[in-house]
Amino acid sequence: LQKKVEMCNWEKGHYINYAKMSENLSVVRSRLNRPLNFAEKVLYSHLDDPHGQEIERGKSYLRLRPDRVACQDATAQMAILQFMSAGMPSVATPTTVHCDHLIEAQVGGERDLARAQDINKEVYDFLATSCAKYNIGFWRPGSGIIHQIILENYAFPGALMIGTDSHTPNAGGLGMAAIGVGGADAVDVMANLPWELKAPKVIGVRLTGELSGWTSPKDIILKVAGILTVKGGTGAIIEYHGPGVKTLSCTGMGTICNMGAEIGATTSIFPFNDRMYDYLVATKRKAIGDFAREYAAELKEDEGAEYDDLIELNLSELEPHINGPFTPDLATPISKFKDAVAANKWPSELKVGLIGSCTNSSYEDMSRAASIAQDALDHGIKAQAVFTVTPGSEQIRATIERDGQLKTLEDFGGMVLANACGPCIGQWDRKDVKKGEPNSIISSYNRNFTGRNDANPATHAFVTSPDLVVALTLAGTLNFNPLTDKLKDKDGKEFMLQPPTGDGLPSRGYDPGRDTYQAPPEDRASVSVAVSPSSDRLQILEPFQAWDGKDALDMPILIKAQGKTTTDHISMAGPWLKYRGHLDNISNNMLIGAINSANGEANKVKNFTTGDFDAVPATARDYKKKGIKWVVIGDWNYGEGSSREHAALEPRHLGGLAIITRSFARIHETNLKKQGMLPLTFTNPEDYDKIQPDDKVDLMCTELAVGKPMTMKVHPKNGEPFTVQLSHTFNEGQIEWFKNGSALNTMAKKNSQ
Ligand code: F3S
Repeated sequence: LQKKVEMCNWEKGHYINYAKMSENLSVVRSRLNRPLNFAEKVLYSHLDDPHGQEIERGKSYLRLRPDRVACQDATAQMAILQFMSAGMPSVATPTTVHCDHLIEAQVGGERDLARAQDINKEVYDFLATSCAKYNIGFWRPGSGIIHQIILENYAFPGALMIGTDSHTPNAGGLGMAAIGVGGADAVDVMANLPWELKAPKVIGVRLTGELSGWTSPKDIILKVAGILTVKGGTGAIIEYHGPGVKTLSCTGMGTICNMGAEIGATTSIFPFNDRMYDYLVATKRKAIGDFAREYAAELKEDEGAEYDDLIELNLSELEPHINGPFTPDLATPISKFKDAVAANKWPSELKVGLIGSCTNSSYEDMSRAASIAQDALDHGIKAQAVFTVTPGSEQIRATIERDGQLKTLEDFGGMVLANACGPCIGQWDRKDVKKGEPNSIISSYNRNFTGRNDANPATHAFVTSPDLVVALTLAGTLNFNPLTDKLKDKDGKEFMLQPPTGDGLPSRGYDPGRDTYQAPPEDRASVSVAVSPSSDRLQILEPFQAWDGKDALDMPILIKAQGKTTTDHISMAGPWLKYRGHLDNISNNMLIGAINSANGEANKVKNFTTGDFDAVPATARDYKKKGIKWVVIGDWNYGEGSSREHAALEPRHLGGLAIITRSFARIHETNLKKQGMLPLTFTNPEDYDKIQPDDKVDLMCTELAVGKPMTMKVHPKNGEPFTVQLSHTFNEGQIEWFKNGSALNTMAKKNSQ
């Protein structure tokens, strides 16, 4: 295990540390004294402090040291801008950035890519130069979708990775625990802070039997989603195991893990096996495969390992499924689908079939899809609906172009889109139906919430395997079941489609296609990061100021928010996402969705200096200009929802000092601490009612100490002052964040010492 094997073929000097992982595991084993499942092994072998870390599934917060970070281009912008403000010369953990989310599908791959390069030029230039500067691998637009590139190049068995995208778990197909996070978490790991995760529960899925005919790996996750529902995996890792595993291809396992995000799972993972070895060899990483074989005993569950829950699936009995519309957990087996279409009055005509995406664009997927298309072409018929093909990576595109599948899919009627997210993330200039017109589409993607693909709330989006997408697109109707129904050939003669076939891996090896990777240069010091001062999409972040060491007196309440205040109320998405790399511009959405308890309205608060009502961000800006710090009063579970870091950055940027609530959603609370804000809670939640929006408050910041409450003195507009006790969850390290102005400032300070 002392061998030196590099983590990937693109970076030098980063070795797989199975020796250290195994050492950590033996420490944890001697403490827990019980068999471990594989998910636990991966996590516990990456503990920052295996000796001292408290470990209880579903309870403790693990401090972890991931092997890698991956960011897509939309989320990478703010993550890198924040990282830059720490003043470090290079990322501390190997990191890559992938340009996949900003390419709109309109007329086909080449031209769509050229248009995206034009529209997003300043974002791409910023990412390319900042990656070069800070030693980050940069995958240019056209290289492919983040999760496919990670599987092809970076994932390895037993590794731990975080990625700023919800489908990061795709890499579980290669035995990696790959977890989707918000940008703030990525920044921590890039800056060498340990990463915190609540010790997940582990749900086991035991597979027996063997897939055959029209059933594919996708059907496993479609079925599991039906069983567990969109919430069933929350706080848990889904661990697949059992004799059925070895009958699946590595990329098929990737598909299953990818879509585990749809059931809310922290991640999904498969144990190391020969199919993974084959895939590593095919993607030019035989040395990693051989090394993993040496460490194989720790790359699967221990004998007798237990799961918090167990699902058993016999693959020999599994039917192909179609899930949807509007939710990925509404699972219907193909034999019952036609009845479900009629009973629910779903539009039965199929308008569009879409294959590919990060979920289902492997060589195997494309080969099977092409085998069905070829069968149809041999009978003289083609797609009856619009048909699109999204290769997951340039490597896949080039390989299926060389081997002929792409031509077959085009002959069948397919439009080949760019190697990017495209319609999967709503980057689709759809023209065939009008907004509001009910219609059905079917894809091999993972997510089908209302409006996701084409922003039309009346579109019924279904998800299934690429095989069924091709078959139904050929029939042009949702009422077709290729296992039982006949089609008519060009002469009107009836025939049945053959079940799909296709190689798992290309027998001639992968064709890498065009060179789309930018390695960081040797001389990084001379690189300057491209951000135009006049840009409205990007802005360099200045480090936040350190605490002045004083109590904060006579502060106004910017808003006393009442009821639900989610991160969406604090920092709205939609059109604002355009400004996600420009903190000052996006701050114009700060708290515009929160309800003011004074008037029951959103985005209308009183500016105490003028007496006028104005928008929340405008009022905060006015206070900031006048040098007045302010606080927010919030209700229960303030900051629930997505982990969006902008919701913590914006109040800090506009001069806020503290957010005082009845309670916090934990991630938002931590995000606020990271940005140097004070998230505080009323020790007695009823005190929330005693505060009036017009009151002023004094905060005794000098009292801040671990486990000690803080005093707030309230000065009502009319009436006697009174005090209120506030609680907090700061630990020693986090108090330093507050004192230094942010977690990043703290990191920068440490690095410069
Ligand atoms: Fe992109 Fe859709 Fe995957 S947005 S990362 S292709 S889930």
